Amino acid sequence: MNICYIYHSETGHTRGIAGRCLAATGGDQIEVHDLQHYNMITKFLVGGRRAGKGLSDPIEPSTIDASKYDLVVIGSPVWGGKPTPAINAAIQALKGCEGKKSVLFVTCGGSPGESLALMKRALEGRGVTIAASVSFNRKELSDEGRVNDLIRQIKSTSAV
Ligand SMILES: Cc1cc2nc3c(=O)[nH]c(=O)nc-3n(C[C@H](O)[C@H](O)[C@H](O)COP(=O)(O)O)c2cc1C
Repeated sequence: MNICYIYHSETGHTRGIAGRCLAATGGDQIEVHDLQHYNMITKFLVGGRRAGKGLSDPIEPSTIDASKYDLVVIGSPVWGGKPTPAINAAIQALKGCEGKKSVLFVTCGGSPGESLALMKRALEGRGVTIAASVSFNRKELSDEGRVNDLIRQIKSTSAV
């Protein structure tokens, strides 16, 4: 089964989880870049506020062809309890995603808030079925067992 990892990451945590899973399962990866190019201050003042409103930012790549994949794994940092504007944009940018399966994960400092539920709702609106969703707070980022659980969920979803 073809797997694609689609993620946004500003400080490397989400990229790190995606990379560890990709190394275990194989597949392709698409890192989504936010073309707002936030700095440390605007990330909170502008990006965090835009995330809170559920807005999307311009991203690169601007379209994501999911048609050749059976499973898309989508990873987002949590901003203000929500997915980032770049991940909101990535979900909208998906082409050929109807009928696909998805596993979601988020990384956060403390609590995922509404992020996973909002990603699930947005993807279901695109015709995608969510098979599993996992969050990693700061402590859990280095928890091998938790990463292995995510890898297991991805492998078991991709085996069906
Ligand atoms: C603008 C902004 C808002 C954030 N809001 C939250 C939050 O609401 N809850 C939380 O637990 N962590 C929050 N964080 C922390 C990030 O979710 C966390 O550091 C995440 O792992 C960053 O992922 P990255 O390294 O892939 O960019 C926030 C970080 C930023 C920059």
